[in-house]
Amino acid sequence: MEENIINLNKFLSELEIMSVKLQNYHWNVQGHNFFIIHSKLEEFYDEIREQIDEIAEHILAKGYEPLGTMKDFISNSEIVEAKNEKIKSEELLKIVTQDFNTLYKKVVEIKKSAEKVEDYETSALIDDYLRDYSKKLWMLNEVTKN
Ligand SMILES: [Fe+2]
Repeated sequence: MEENIINLNKFLSELEIMSVKLQNYHWNVQGHNFFIIHSKLEEFYDEIREQIDEIAEHILAKGYEPLGTMKDFISNSEIVEAKNEKIKSEELLKIVTQDFNTLYKKVVEIKKSAEKVEDYETSALIDDYLRDYSKKLWMLNEVTKN
């Protein structure tokens, strides 16, 4: 399989794990700015659920099969699940920032591998993700400066 498709399936796996992780944090967050962080996390995983569907259907449109089992998502994701336990908002924000950084690096890899094989649909699609994650990283880095 082409490198760009392999990268898209890895990215799909990261997004699946990230969505479960963000919802876990939405439930388990404690401490400073609870209300803001609790609702922001919901906004994040809602967006990621939409991205999951977009990426999976993009893989199908390219004529390939998206991964579809939790087992495959876990084994192909660099982002690791969170434990099901309470977590302080400051610690959570650091981890979420690292994870969005992982997603950002993943979409850079997709952009490069897509352009290498003149897959301009993937390259164009991924531009939105580059902008989205770099904006989130800017905001998350501002929050974690305190
Ligand atoms: Fe909720």
